[in-house]
Amino acid sequence: MSGTLLRCDDRHALATTLDPSRSAGEQIAFVPTMGALHHGHIALVERAATLAPTVVASIFVNPTQFDAAADLAAYPRTLDADLALLADAAARTGVRLVAYVPNVADVYPDGPATTLHVGEVTEHLCGASRPGHFDGVATVVDALLRAVRPTVLVMGRKDHQQLVVVRRLVAMQGHDVVVDAAPTVRDDDGVAVSSRNRLLDDAARAAARRIPRALAAGVAVVRAARTDGAPVDPEAVRDAAHAVLDGEDLRIDYLETADPDRIVPVDGSLASDGRLLLAVAVHVASAHPDAPPTVRLIDNVLLGDVEDEQRLLDAVGE
Ligand code: PAF
Repeated sequence: MSGTLLRCDDRHALATTLDPSRSAGEQIAFVPTMGALHHGHIALVERAATLAPTVVASIFVNPTQFDAAADLAAYPRTLDADLALLADAAARTGVRLVAYVPNVADVYPDGPATTLHVGEVTEHLCGASRPGHFDGVATVVDALLRAVRPTVLVMGRKDHQQLVVVRRLVAMQGHDVVVDAAPTVRDDDGVAVSSRNRLLDDAARAAARRIPRALAAGVAVVRAARTDGAPVDPEAVRDAAHAVLDGEDLRIDYLETADPDRIVPVDGSLASDGRLLLAVAVHVASAHPDAPPTVRLIDNVLLGDVEDEQRLLDAVGE
């Protein structure tokens, strides 16, 4: 029924629920999540609701993408609140919303082992800091796509590298699905929305505010080059971002300019309208009672994508 939330705990119940839509040739949109839902996830669900009359949102904390057992154990699990948010979204959008809430055995009938590696795009940025992470992501997204069999997969651009990994996975495995990339959702202070933001104390949040501002400084360098018709120097972009971001209150994991499709670092100059990913990951210390000693935050802007640049500048008020 439209405007309602259904819950399926295993792939058989999911197939029974979705098969009539499939037989009728209807679109099915899919938003994979690990729960701890926030308004960034709900924006993905709302976007999915504009693409299909049936939307599936999975809630599954995937063990194969965590580097450390402690991180997996500490990952927030807020199922009741998640389901309430999804029920609201269903009522608001009028779609049939299906929450797929599988257990490990349903997703990995042969045990939770990493089986897929999509290659070069996993080697740098977050892939370098979190070895094996993207193999786990590719493996679980492959398993979820086989269970849900959507026509559209909606992923957020905040995890740009993850989006590229998933695009590669879809091509590699021949999944018959369109991958739709949704813009990053930002809070009023420009900070990209993330489940981890709830772990930031006031000082950590203040440090986090420099992340979008640093990216905006990179945008300014590119815009100046564009105005002058001059090539873009990636080092100048990184220097401008560092000038805003660097500080003793955070530790930079990486601040990198990269090819947005291959996810390899770019150092040589490129045309002023060329596409360049400016991506950052930092660790900020937080005294929040639920936080580990440091909280890892990521963000990026796609330079050369005028809309993405502008959304970021608007969010930081520049
Ligand atoms: O982005 C996430 O929440 C996860 O990496 C995903 C895509 C749901 C796979 O577990």
